[in-house]
Amino acid sequence: MAPRWAAAALPSAALLLLPLLLAVASAGLSGYFGTKSRYEEVNPHLLRDPLSLGPAAAGSRLPAACAPLQLRALLRHGTRYPTAGQIRRLGELHARLLRRPAAAAGCPAAADLAAWQMWYEESLDGRLAPQGRRDMEHLARRLAARFPALFAARRRLVLASSSKHRCLQSGAAFRRGLGPSLSLGSDEVEVEVNDSLMRFFDHCAKFVALVEENDTAMCQVNAFKEGPEMRKVLEKVASALCLPVEELNADLVQVAFLACSYELAIKNVTSPWCSLFSEEDAKVLEYLNDLKQYWKRGYGYDINSRSSCILFQDIFQHLDKAVEESKSSKPISSPLIVQIGHAETLQPLLALMGFFKDDEPLKANNYVRQMHRKFRSGRIVPYAANLVFVLYHCDQVKTSKEEYQVQMLLNEKLMLFHHSNETISTYTDLKDYYKDILENCHFKEECALPKVNITAVDEL
Ligand SMILES: *[C@@H]1O[C@H](CO)[C@@H](O)[C@H](O)[C@H]1NC(C)=O
Ligand SMILES: *[C@@H]1O[C@H](CO)[C@@H](O)[C@H](O)[C@H]1NC(C)=O
Ligand SMILES: *[C@@H]1O[C@H](CO)[C@@H](O)[C@H](O)[C@H]1NC(C)=O
Ligand SMILES: *[C@@H]1O[C@H](CO)[C@@H](O)[C@H](O)[C@H]1NC(C)=O
Ligand SMILES: *[C@@H]1O[C@H](CO)[C@@H](O)[C@H](O)[C@H]1NC(C)=O
Repeated sequence: MAPRWAAAALPSAALLLLPLLLAVASAGLSGYFGTKSRYEEVNPHLLRDPLSLGPAAAGSRLPAACAPLQLRALLRHGTRYPTAGQIRRLGELHARLLRRPAAAAGCPAAADLAAWQMWYEESLDGRLAPQGRRDMEHLARRLAARFPALFAARRRLVLASSSKHRCLQSGAAFRRGLGPSLSLGSDEVEVEVNDSLMRFFDHCAKFVALVEENDTAMCQVNAFKEGPEMRKVLEKVASALCLPVEELNADLVQVAFLACSYELAIKNVTSPWCSLFSEEDAKVLEYLNDLKQYWKRGYGYDINSRSSCILFQDIFQHLDKAVEESKSSKPISSPLIVQIGHAETLQPLLALMGFFKDDEPLKANNYVRQMHRKFRSGRIVPYAANLVFVLYHCDQVKTSKEEYQVQMLLNEKLMLFHHSNETISTYTDLKDYYKDILENCHFKEECALPKVNITAVDEL
């Protein structure tokens, strides 16, 4: 005989399962949000405890017999709201669904979306979301816990940022996360703005002309939008919404996918926008996002990464200075340098250093071949992405290596240096490996537009 409570328990059990099922659905997609990925996608242990250093921390303890001298952290701002343009397009798509109530009966997805509240306003335009503040405060606390000697009270912190509001706000949040004990030097300025370092791409005329303002430069991205993979996604979404496929295009579908990613990152909810997509669709849309990153910020064009050599050299100038100061037993003038920029700041720099480079370029027609690509922007530059250089002074007797060594961490995980496949390098070896960039990459020359040679024309 069945217990009496069984029948009554069933529906409530099903209700209990519902959020679980939704959570599973979003977990299925959230790995494919590209540059709109939560930082937790690359460090899932933070979902349980945002201050935990995670399972990788044990393996990335300070190298034995070494003391950190300088830490340089390049950060992407935390979780942000959509840009005004994205909000406008989402509003348009939503309004279009609201105008078709008749179709709703056979289209539960369309009905759910019509019931969804369009709460984004254009004035939010790319600003830092409350979650973005938490991203930064927590990151600051984790870095301080990992490098207590550097973040000790009264050490000097240099904090610089891009001029964008979300970056300045991220800098302030990072600072708050550290607590009041650090010194900011003599001036009272909390965050110093330096766009020539953090937004070098805006200042590079050649990049602007060749890539940013050049429609043909994104031809692979545009071709993929019109290609068979996107076509399939378009048809599926159109049918789920009971819209004629002609009324949709890749940009609108991308905006719907963005809405799914923003609602998760900003509000920690799985919105009805997500129900339009399967995991297969998400992979296609991730590739579209990665294609754009690749051609605009990555290996697609040399100028993308060459424009970052100003930042690369600045990093090594400060490392040099710290080494010099250490050698002459002076206090390190800048033990902590934290700079806040964009995905567009980090991605070119990582490309300049040769990281995440696939054997073949990402193209419109090699989606399947690139299934296991290294260049996945969601893994490289999610919100609050951080690239950290740590310079150590090591006790020679115990290491029998050079005194000065360097580690690099991306998103709090040690990176393998390309020249050695190791997670630590002597400073000399590192500089040697990047000698050509350090000596021969000059921002001014790299970024100068090729001039028409008037003299040559005259002589013709
Ligand atoms: C930005 O940083 C560069 C390199 O350190 C420096 O030369 C420049 O003066 C800085 N600009 C501002 C506005 O602080
Ligand atoms: C635009 O990009 C295409 C493709 O890379 C290139 O051939 C062309 O020279 C670029 N145009 C300008 C004005 O830089
Ligand atoms: C986000 O939502 C999940 C699932 O509903 C929940 O377990 C988690 O605690 C939430 N996280 C935050 C930071 O609110
Ligand atoms: C590093 O490891 C990869 C894969 O194991 C190998 O292909 C590469 O040649 C190694 N590089 C060096 C410098 O040892
Ligand atoms: C311009 O062309 C002339 C003749 O070909 C050459 O001698 C000169 O070096 C060129 N100038 C520049 C700035 O490239």
